[in-house]
Amino acid sequence: MSVERPPGLPMNASLAGLPERITIWEVGPRDGLQNEKSTVPTEVKLEFLDRLADSGLTTLEATSFVHPKWVPQLADAEDLVGKLVRRDGVRYPVLVPNERGLDRALEAGMEHVAVFASATETFANKNLNRSLDEQFAMFEPTVTRARAEGLEVRGYISMCFGDPWEGPVEPAQVAAVGKRLVDMGCGQISLGDTIGVATIGQVPAVLGAFAAVGIGADRLAVHFHDTYGQALTNTIEALRHGVTTVDASAGGLGGCPYAKSATGNLATEDLVWTLDGLGVQHGVDLNRLAETSAWMAGQLGRPSPSRVVRAITG
Ligand code: HMG
Ligand code: MG
Repeated sequence: MSVERPPGLPMNASLAGLPERITIWEVGPRDGLQNEKSTVPTEVKLEFLDRLADSGLTTLEATSFVHPKWVPQLADAEDLVGKLVRRDGVRYPVLVPNERGLDRALEAGMEHVAVFASATETFANKNLNRSLDEQFAMFEPTVTRARAEGLEVRGYISMCFGDPWEGPVEPAQVAAVGKRLVDMGCGQISLGDTIGVATIGQVPAVLGAFAAVGIGADRLAVHFHDTYGQALTNTIEALRHGVTTVDASAGGLGGCPYAKSATGNLATEDLVWTLDGLGVQHGVDLNRLAETSAWMAGQLGRPSPSRVVRAITG
């Protein structure tokens, strides 16, 4: 299928306070596919990863080394990364919840891992089978050993902007979790709006809470799910406050199997469309990416939720 951008593209016009360039952290192969009802065949995942790299993305979160019973959709992690032809200039982070996950990632020769914490007690329990405090006991030896092995380690925090069981989450509570992750050696912290409830005013509030514990926006990434259609607005606000790494998912795939109200992530195409309009560089070929998402939607048997994908390929 060939895709064409529509005529009459908007002229670039920037906004004050935006970075010149950002890094897109593509989570579709992991966050996207972990939540599919059916398990996508390994060969399709491999083609997906290849096509994403072809479109210019340089960070592809490939899979998770979690318990296969907890996330059966990613139970092929070893097989997948064993067959993956890794490209120069592309990094392939994987999720590891604990030392067992790290062992598996090291054995598979992975160079970038991410632990994933919760800002709330209830979600720590549901997603990790640990209390809020116990999660750190699980991450500490994992992060320490990963660093000693020379790996880059990211720390995710879920439920940063609201929790379906506990309601509002205090920014100071989120920042306290982030501080513990940074202190144990996580290089970057990704702020997850797991259920996509954040509104724009919360963004500077949460970033401000991190600044208050000594963690600047340069150490932070944002990870908005798009349940209420706010992911792009919130992301642009984060960019205006100094964040330069944005998590997004090709075609808007995504969700968390342990947070039922979670839907897809910010669609990478929606992000790229806006960045192009704003003149912020990102290195991605929008047409190629949209073509990939349309192909993936065909594999999954339903249209992409991304309006940009539909507008370009429809
Ligand atoms: P547990 O049942 O408490 O595990 O689960 P355990 O530590 O008691 O171990 C039980 C058995 O599991 C042992 O085997 C372990 O070896 C094995 P046994 O000795 O009984 O034969 N085991 C493992 N096997 C393979 N790989 C492993 C592993 N770990 C233990 N890594 C656990 C605890 C953390 C493992 C479990 O809760 C789990 O896997 N959770 C993952 C949930 C998940 O992946 N959620 C989605 C990702 S997070 C997300 O999507 C949010 C994010 O996108 C940001 C946002 O949007 O907010 C990142
Ligand atoms: Mg997520």
